[in-house]
Amino acid sequence: MRIAGHTFLAKLGKKRLRPGGKEATTWLFNQAEITETTTILEVACNMGTTAIELVKKFGCNVVAVDFDENVVKIAQENIKSQNLSHKITVIHADARQLPFENDQFDIVINEAMLTMQSNINKEKCLREYYRVLKKGGKLLTHDIAIIENSAIKKEVSQAINVSIHPLYYNEWLMLFENQSFINIHAHIGNMTLMRVSGMLKDEGLINTLKIIRNAIKKENRTQFYKMFKVFRKNKTFMKYIVIKGEK
Ligand SMILES: C[S@@+](CC[C@H](N)C(=O)[O-])C[C@H]1O[C@@H](n2cnc3c(N)ncnc32)[C@H](O)[C@@H]1O
Repeated sequence: MRIAGHTFLAKLGKKRLRPGGKEATTWLFNQAEITETTTILEVACNMGTTAIELVKKFGCNVVAVDFDENVVKIAQENIKSQNLSHKITVIHADARQLPFENDQFDIVINEAMLTMQSNINKEKCLREYYRVLKKGGKLLTHDIAIIENSAIKKEVSQAINVSIHPLYYNEWLMLFENQSFINIHAHIGNMTLMRVSGMLKDEGLINTLKIIRNAIKKENRTQFYKMFKVFRKNKTFMKYIVIKGEK
């Protein structure tokens, strides 16, 4: 059975399923003055890692959504096990049609999802994020930027069993501009996702060892090695990109 790269990595025990890991997420957190009263929408929360981190760090309230009903349940369990159900609500929803009123959130954070959307769907998502943000609210995204035209899209899509549509740096900025975001600020850096050094930074030593032990099991090693090889081969041509825009 072909399983999506992020679902596969989660199965191995990986908690951060995003290109630039902790470093990139920290950059995003630093773009906003988050306090206990900040209302945050996390789109594509998967198992709830970022939502939990936000609440633990800042004491804010988070509404988190994901398109996959299975991960919504996993996120709810993770949040419950951390006694944070009173601070985080997880909802099954599609980023392209969010079930929220206009002008509700101070921050929308969306990591490692837009790259998986077609360009038309990227625009639909950004339109929704703009709509649900309060005036002056911030959109924080985390994705893959391509540096040079190569076979990246095809090779990575095949390796992770998900069709990806990363953009060049300037194209990402234009996407934000075209949806009326202002004060756009972006940063790129090396991907941590499929590197051992990145895993150590993002997951810590014990969890990295657990992930590697699971990765080399007979039933996992073919897919893990396929992903590892493609990410390593293309490491100079694809970077993480983090972007902040304001409404
Ligand atoms: C690579 S994972 C990233 C998870 C998490 N944000 C992280 O950085 O660790 C992508 C997530 O996007 C979700 N997703 C994909 N399309 C979506 C959509 N249209 N609306 C909401 N979530 C979506 C998937 O279900 C998956 O959980």
